[in-house]
Amino acid sequence: MTLEVIILAAGQGSRMRSSTPKVLHPLGGKPLLQHVVDAARSLEPSAIHVVIGHGAEAVRKAMDGNGLRWVEQTEQLGTGHAVLQALPGLRDESTVLVLYGDVPLVSPDVLRTLVQAAQDTPALLTAVLDDPAGYGRILRDAHNAFRAVVEHKDADPEELAVQEVNTGILAAPASLFRRFLPQVGNSNQQREYYLPDVLSLSVADGIAVRTATVADPLAVLGVNDQLQLGRLERELQRQRAEALMKDGVHLADPARIDIRGELRCGRDVFIDVNCVFVGDVILEDGVHIGPNCVITASHIGSGSEVRAMSHLEKAAVAQDCTIGPYARLRPGTALAQGARVGNFVETKKARIGAGSKVNHLSYIGDCEMGEGANIGAGTITCNYDGVNKHITRIGDGAFVGSNATLVAPVEIGSGGFVAAGSTITRAVPDAELAVARGKQRNIPGWKRPGKVNKD
Ligand code: UD1
Ligand code: CA
Repeated sequence: MTLEVIILAAGQGSRMRSSTPKVLHPLGGKPLLQHVVDAARSLEPSAIHVVIGHGAEAVRKAMDGNGLRWVEQTEQLGTGHAVLQALPGLRDESTVLVLYGDVPLVSPDVLRTLVQAAQDTPALLTAVLDDPAGYGRILRDAHNAFRAVVEHKDADPEELAVQEVNTGILAAPASLFRRFLPQVGNSNQQREYYLPDVLSLSVADGIAVRTATVADPLAVLGVNDQLQLGRLERELQRQRAEALMKDGVHLADPARIDIRGELRCGRDVFIDVNCVFVGDVILEDGVHIGPNCVITASHIGSGSEVRAMSHLEKAAVAQDCTIGPYARLRPGTALAQGARVGNFVETKKARIGAGSKVNHLSYIGDCEMGEGANIGAGTITCNYDGVNKHITRIGDGAFVGSNATLVAPVEIGSGGFVAAGSTITRAVPDAELAVARGKQRNIPGWKRPGKVNKD
């Protein structure tokens, strides 16, 4: 069986009240449409066709690299019309699965079951909702067999009372769409070509429609406005937090963590409240993350602690390091075992050797630091001359006094010592002391200026 997927994503999404196309709004750190594409991909279809219209250029650009086939629907005349645009690109022998770009949490298992059921006949995914308002209702005959979908706006009071709804997700042989889709008309309240009408046309032709009902309606909820997006975000975060806790992660509060990517944790990891994890983050055994940290695409080795309010991006931290509170590790920061980066320290492209300490108020950029070095408060690597970046090398066991400025390119040798307040512009040899500051002068008998009388 060949499977092809069509994702409908041409609608405007006007209720989002945003200039961003609806399907590009982020959920759990990635666009709604990317969730749907990822779910579709897991079924290994031979092609994924995406029908775009509103914001087509932006959607294409944002989804570049996914190997999608784009289908333009210049006028949004309904879901049936949208699928019709994709028909010429489909192979006759394919089974076709239709998904919506704004229904992001569909599970691959549910889709797989639906596709299996649709080898020779159409299959539709339904859900039973407490509040079915707005959805198309499922009509069944006396034998409980599927008869039709009636849209909310076209339904009579009896039909409106039906709680089983069309999720919009359906699968059918391509040949069935080719046969019935051109027959779908638009004589309804919205003057739209409704996709579910292919199903009633099939039934009228003696082809039964299979239905599958999802156990958890959350999996088929759509996003039409910011409220629904917000609710789905919380739901997704709840699921992610629960999965972590099932794996043994200790969360101070499962309702106060946001994972916008993939977070992998070892044993005995603790995460305090209000932390945000972006991209691929790995926390090894025994890592402790304090409150209000933002950690992006970083790897933190076992036993390391990130204290409150720290911000890490593309950082590699070895075992038993201590970071923060209030530290900022920018891309290219690498801490070796037992290194320490303290409060109000910013690092960028910096290798900090084992056991080295930068404890307070420093900027360490484009720096290669050895082991056991101690960098005093307020030390600045002057790495930028306005045009180029230059490297500062600091040897093993070096000691840099407070408020030193190291003008790169420059090197402090192993065991080298820099006096507090020095501006270092030349290499400091191994084990030597460099003093580069004005000498102190005391003026005995000095008098403060008195107030001058101007009259
Ligand atoms: C649709 C279904 C309804 C179902 C509901 C589930 C139809 C006629 N109705 O209604 O039975 O209960 O979804 O959420 O199918 N789209 C296009 N081109 C168009 C129109 C829509 O690409 O011309 C896309 C939209 O971008 C969206 C999806 O199709 O991703 C659904 O369209 P929408 O207008 O939201 O349909 P509903 O009225 O919600
Ligand atoms: Ca919708």
